[in-house]
Amino acid sequence: MKVLVLNGPNLGRLGRRQPDIYGHTSYTELVELCVDWGRELAYDVEVRQTNHEGLLLDWLNEAADEGTPVVLNAGAWTHYSLALYDACAQLSAPLVEVHLSDPAQRPEEFRHTSVVTPHAKAVVVGQGVDGYRQALHSL
Ligand code: DQA
Repeated sequence: MKVLVLNGPNLGRLGRRQPDIYGHTSYTELVELCVDWGRELAYDVEVRQTNHEGLLLDWLNEAADEGTPVVLNAGAWTHYSLALYDACAQLSAPLVEVHLSDPAQRPEEFRHTSVVTPHAKAVVVGQGVDGYRQALHSL
């Protein structure tokens, strides 16, 4: 089974970006880990990252057309993008939301809302990169 692991803005700098919050694993390492974890589950995992919201929407539309399950870390778009809300709403296969940190426990009020959660089969937060493994398992 094909699974898309989609990552939004600034996640390409994983390992270098605020490692105290997001950890030291690089984005390249995250990609390898997700592919390996997927293989153990007989999933054909494809990991993507973009800083361009429209591209993420295109990928979600592709998942909707193909009925592909999605693991999604939409980064900051999680908290305010109504287009992202709509794109997630139309998915027919399972969607699992993942965040490296636990946005609800962070001081910025804006992180306490998610437009993805209403459409998610499961939400994994605060587990660092292992959250992606857990998300793949919960599909
Ligand atoms: C994040 C949490 C978001 O609030 C933040 O904007 C990110 C990363 C996480 O993985 O913890 O970019 O999605």
